[in-house]
Amino acid sequence: MKICKTVEQVKSALHEFKGQRLGFVPTMGALHEGHLSLIRAAKAQCKTVVVSIFVNPTQFGPKEDLAKYPRPFERDCQLLEREGVDVLFAPTAEEMYPQGAVTWVEVESMSGKLCGRSRPGHFRGVTTVVSKLFHIVGPAAAFFGQKDAAQAAIIRRMVRDLVFPVEIVVCPIVRELDGLAMSSRNAYLSPEERKSALALSRALHEVQEYFDRGERRTARLLEAGTNEISQNPGVRLDYFEAVDPHTLEAKPEVNGPTLVAVAAFVGSTRLIDNVVLQP
Ligand code: PAJ
Repeated sequence: MKICKTVEQVKSALHEFKGQRLGFVPTMGALHEGHLSLIRAAKAQCKTVVVSIFVNPTQFGPKEDLAKYPRPFERDCQLLEREGVDVLFAPTAEEMYPQGAVTWVEVESMSGKLCGRSRPGHFRGVTTVVSKLFHIVGPAAAFFGQKDAAQAAIIRRMVRDLVFPVEIVVCPIVRELDGLAMSSRNAYLSPEERKSALALSRALHEVQEYFDRGERRTARLLEAGTNEISQNPGVRLDYFEAVDPHTLEAKPEVNGPTLVAVAAFVGSTRLIDNVVLQP
């Protein structure tokens, strides 16, 4: 695997793979099975696979966990090597945001929904860095996780609106055996918090059960979910919403595919999870 730190290095490394279908998996590192599932999907569909590891400062708020975000670079490299990744792009913040960079990509209105409401500027940071990475890597297909459902919807819209020549592939959520959605941030949880964190997947399970029993009013479904969350004193709800999976607009009724998304703080760690209800 070639490890590239600069735009120039990655461009020259990719020269070697010219003409081959290129798959791209952008990440912030601290890799887990969720990330690896995207890499395996990319390997299955593309001859060449490029992964990026970049803890993107512009998608973190001033009081968020940018400084303490885990960065186990050596271990990540070993995992990527084992998966047969061809090129790793791991730039510095200065490489991605040279002095004087003032240009942003924003998917208006969608960027203020779900996590975008509680994390102002977050999605603008994501769409800006993903645009730059797409330009640098030039993939035929890029792989994202359903775990970050709003992110995937916003990137799809950006690709459509700006005519990026890239196919967006969204892969299912990978979970721990007990249901907790895998996340690099799970590493922050104490053993006690790790137990409380199960409230999110349990609440979504509850929503799915109500839905399976015939409930279609989202207010009722969300009530079942929030009740489950509120039974856990260690968990503080950020949002529990039912939205259209493409537009992220709130839905009063499940009359088509409906994204039910939850975000909550367990201690100081913010976790997210979701399920798509299919009538
Ligand atoms: P990161 O949180 O590292 O996630 C990288 C990719 O892995 C995202 O597409 C995310 O949805 C996916 N992923 C994370 N946990 C997953 C799980 N349990 N199951 C399936 N997929 C999972 O998302 C980002 O980084 C950044 O915002 C990024 C897109 C790299 C832009 O900076």
